[in-house]
Amino acid sequence: MSAELVVFRDVAVNLGGKDILRGVSSSLPRGQITALIGLNGSGKTTLLRAILKEVPYRGQIEFRCGHDHRHPTPQHIGYVPQKLQIDARLPLTVRDLMALALQRKPLFLGISRRVNRMLGELLQQVWLPVELLDRLVEKLSGGEQQRVLLSLALQPRPELLLLDEPASGIDFQHEEMYYDLLARLNRERGVTILLVSHELSVVSKHAHRVLCLKDGKIQCEGPPEEIMSLEALAQTFGTAKGVYTHQHAEHRTSG
Ligand SMILES: Nc1ncnc2c1ncn2[C@@H]1O[C@H](COP(=O)(O)OP(=O)(O)OP(=O)(O)O)[C@@H](O)[C@H]1O
Ligand SMILES: [Mg+2]
Repeated sequence: MSAELVVFRDVAVNLGGKDILRGVSSSLPRGQITALIGLNGSGKTTLLRAILKEVPYRGQIEFRCGHDHRHPTPQHIGYVPQKLQIDARLPLTVRDLMALALQRKPLFLGISRRVNRMLGELLQQVWLPVELLDRLVEKLSGGEQQRVLLSLALQPRPELLLLDEPASGIDFQHEEMYYDLLARLNRERGVTILLVSHELSVVSKHAHRVLCLKDGKIQCEGPPEEIMSLEALAQTFGTAKGVYTHQHAEHRTSG
């Protein structure tokens, strides 16, 4: 089996006449956590959407999963988007939201017994209590919402998880817990993770590998220790000001 799960060859995306990604050639090592970092507008979300085939691209994105992968399916890829595309004012419970994602039958015909049985278990795998099912989605904290979405992205056992700024809007303590959860899922299930983050300290602690994007091009890539060097950071983020290296790199999970 190839050491890479996804290989990018000269990937380019043009949207509205603008080059959003250019000459992106890289790979995602199988079973590892890769962090994708870069400034606002550098093309991080666009790269995720290209992997999902949600935007047209030139070049190649090869998925070495052993399946026919002309069209990604939930078996291959779990995705937690940067923004929820539902109307937050909808009085939707967590149970409803999850059933909408998990069953084919329209919700007005009721939740199927199969799905009802699954819900508690799905929440447990992201360390959420079953009682959350009856809460309104809009009343959940940012961290709880993220974990509900993660539980859905983990269904049914994807080989690759794409997480777009999963910890934004989460406080430090819950952020740590969230990344511990990801590290555990990665370790125990071997799921490959591509994680978009602005948080360099988090990246250095939890990712096996870092990919930096700048203006739609790969600026640098390598192990976090290397990327955390100020020179590389300065290149990616324009300035090294306000950036610090993390002291706990030794806690990083191993693959
Ligand atoms: N459909 C589109 N049409 C035109 N331009 C777009 C489109 N989608 C994204 N862009 C532009 O592409 C660039 C990259 O966007 P993208 O969302 O990938 O950035 P990002 O790195 O995820 O940024 P952020 O950190 O803010 O989430 C931005 O300048 C954005 O305005
Ligand atoms: Mg984005």
